[in-house]
Amino acid sequence: MQGSTPTPLKSSASQGLTGRLRVPGDKSISHRSLMLGAIAVGETRASGLLEGGDVVDTAKAMQALGAKVERTDDGVWHVQGVGVSGLMSPKGDLNFGNSGTGVRLALGLMASTPLSARCIGDASLSRRPMGRVIVPLSEFGARFETAEGGRLPLTLHGARNAVPITYKLPVASAQVKSAVLLAGLNTPGRTTVIEPVATRDHTERMLKAFGADITIDHREDGRHIMITGQRELKAQVIDVPADPSSAAFPMVAALITEGSDITIENVMLNETRTGLITTLIEMGGDITVENKRLAGGEEVGDLRIRSSRLKGIRVPAERAPSMIDEYPALAVAASFAQGVTHMEGLDELRVKESDRLAAVEAGLQANGVATRSGPDWLEVTGGAVAGGGLVATHLDHRIAMSFLVMGIASAKDVRVDDGAMIATSFPNFIALMNGLGCRMAPAS
Ligand code: S3P
Repeated sequence: MQGSTPTPLKSSASQGLTGRLRVPGDKSISHRSLMLGAIAVGETRASGLLEGGDVVDTAKAMQALGAKVERTDDGVWHVQGVGVSGLMSPKGDLNFGNSGTGVRLALGLMASTPLSARCIGDASLSRRPMGRVIVPLSEFGARFETAEGGRLPLTLHGARNAVPITYKLPVASAQVKSAVLLAGLNTPGRTTVIEPVATRDHTERMLKAFGADITIDHREDGRHIMITGQRELKAQVIDVPADPSSAAFPMVAALITEGSDITIENVMLNETRTGLITTLIEMGGDITVENKRLAGGEEVGDLRIRSSRLKGIRVPAERAPSMIDEYPALAVAASFAQGVTHMEGLDELRVKESDRLAAVEAGLQANGVATRSGPDWLEVTGGAVAGGGLVATHLDHRIAMSFLVMGIASAKDVRVDDGAMIATSFPNFIALMNGLGCRMAPAS
């Protein structure tokens, strides 16, 4: 994606959306399938993997570290792991493109193995803070050389004799939690992460499935996750469910477009990820879960969504970790709701693929939506949306998709300056949305 030419896109007022669709596989589970597969013993097979830029970059990184990664024509990804201590120094740079998850988890994976690797990324990733993983990974004994401010490009030198650590998370971040747990895998003794606020728990669930020695205690100061290292992992067969963070876009699109009735199939409903569904239902959204079932250790279901008259609500700060990637889509839904939607606990939005709080607010205002904001909160006054604005996406896929959704129910077209990054997480976004009846197209 780095250096690719911008792709301006626009969306126009659309009629009722209808149909059944499947959005791509969950991004978090896809990254973890490749990484755990890379250090397991035997062949891990993953189907339904997200084949977006972010995950493909992780696949290439795992290959460069010594794992064999192959996709067969049936869409299954095969990963031959090298064992928990088997990763090797890559020959060239590891390029993580646009992906914070890719680089931060990989740093954890490499930190307790004596290898050296230089990590790079695109302009967006190179602006994002890496100190949050460098601090705990240095305690294991890893060393880092970074660009100014602890940013990419950075070179990691993994620890030769890693020592286990106990680390209390200073930010509610599944990426930091996961980096520490992954570093614990090749470290003798017991590594503990204390998580005061629960974040997505895919790493813990998947580590358990791969046979890691992991236990979780719920205590007064939060979840204590303990991992005892240097036990080999067993390769797994993984069926990746659909990504609730990608489902957010058709979900909001159907709610705000009159006469809509769509079904999104096989969406993961892990409760650390369903904050947006809870919030939209509280706003009056007609969303029902059908065919709830267990698949590969995760609860999944089909979501039926019908257009609804939404009303503004207060979204509590405690809910933020369970919908951290969904605020841009929620802000669009709030723009069409009657009254004021107040969202708080948004400090982490400042360090995503863009400063999402600023990017969302600027995009809303460019389309005639009234907003107020503070360092970690955003308030949106909804109603009819004028549209007609040009939105700056700052290399952020979710900003691009959210505002394209806005345009299908606005009075005038909404344009985004660049939709190229959509391919990092949702390669067939435009085709799927247009298949439901949306009018999204290239803009001049
Ligand atoms: C992710 C964790 C979240 C999320 C990101 C994916 C993960 O980041 O924003 O898209 O897979 O662990 P933080 O944990 O930093 O909030």
